[in-house]
Amino acid sequence: MGAVILGTGSCLPDRVLSNHDLEEIVDTNDEWVRSRTGIATRRISGEGEEVYRLATVAAQRAMEMANVTADEIDLIIVATISPHMIMPSCACFVQKELGAANAFAYDLNAACSGFLYSLDTASKHALVDRDKTILVIGAETLSARTNWEDRNTCILFGDGAGAIVMRYAENNRGVLASELFSDGNLWKLLHMHGAPSCNPAIDPPDNPGPYMLMEGREVFKYAVRAMENAVLQLLEKEKISIDDISLMIPHQANIRILNKLLSRLGVKQEKVFINVQKYGNTSAASIPIALDEANREGLIKHGDLLLICSFGGGFTWGAGLLRW
Ligand code: UT7
Repeated sequence: MGAVILGTGSCLPDRVLSNHDLEEIVDTNDEWVRSRTGIATRRISGEGEEVYRLATVAAQRAMEMANVTADEIDLIIVATISPHMIMPSCACFVQKELGAANAFAYDLNAACSGFLYSLDTASKHALVDRDKTILVIGAETLSARTNWEDRNTCILFGDGAGAIVMRYAENNRGVLASELFSDGNLWKLLHMHGAPSCNPAIDPPDNPGPYMLMEGREVFKYAVRAMENAVLQLLEKEKISIDDISLMIPHQANIRILNKLLSRLGVKQEKVFINVQKYGNTSAASIPIALDEANREGLIKHGDLLLICSFGGGFTWGAGLLRW
């Protein structure tokens, strides 16, 4: 019995920003960015590629694969930290764009862990309301929240959206388990300042604008340890070994974080799907984009055991297991 994924979709903006393009913007170079992050290019959204539009197209592709129409959707969850507006939610914009008149819709903010958290939330909705069809989307246009003068962050992030359609099924497939964690004490190490949500009366005077700020080295250390612990706890709880995993789809943060994580967990490279070199870190969108690419490339077979894990601002992190 589980909440099964019936279809996947993704949508990336057209514009490709290479490391060489970045050399024209900040003091950096292709070799440094490739060796420290594994990223070669990222996508940047332009006119007509607002976050809800990317999310809508990704959803439509997932719905087409699932053979589900807009009026069959009962719930839309969008994981994002770069919504088009604070209110209404990105999910309500997606509902309007899709014409999903029977759905209720809300956003979920867990930064880069947003998709993993949403998957967990959606699977619990599905287990309670067993006839519901649910859209889970991770969508970001972080380029709008990037300080293009800050070489610590502007080299890392990219825009995009990924989506899945999910429904309860009487079988032993779908979301099997997840382990989720947060630690708000560490918020300062990775956060997005200012913006309309901050009270100007209490906002610190050194607020540099509504941009992402990051203590990269600290984030790096926490990210590896946190994801490793989350995965190990999940495996232990589910009484399975890392060798039982068919494919691992981690949050695409940075190739060095991933390599460290994989070597600590003892996962073979060929069992891991990585596309960070093409899209950079797309935050909540990274796992569903990777899941869709792996699915469309035929890398996931019926009955496969998938492991996903993520780490992001908050801090938020966790791991999840899925039977395909
Ligand atoms: O979902 C989680 C999101 N966050 C992350 O994934 C970020 C995790 N952190 C990281 O990936 C790494 O910390 C970074 C890629 C952000 C930075 O790599 P690092 O190896 O930690 O570099 P660093 O900040 O320690 O800087 C090393 C050197 C410094 O120069 P000096 O002081 O040694 O002369 C920096 O000024 O590299 C310099 N540097 C750069 N050089 C060229 C920093 N950024 C750049 C840059 N281009 N973009």
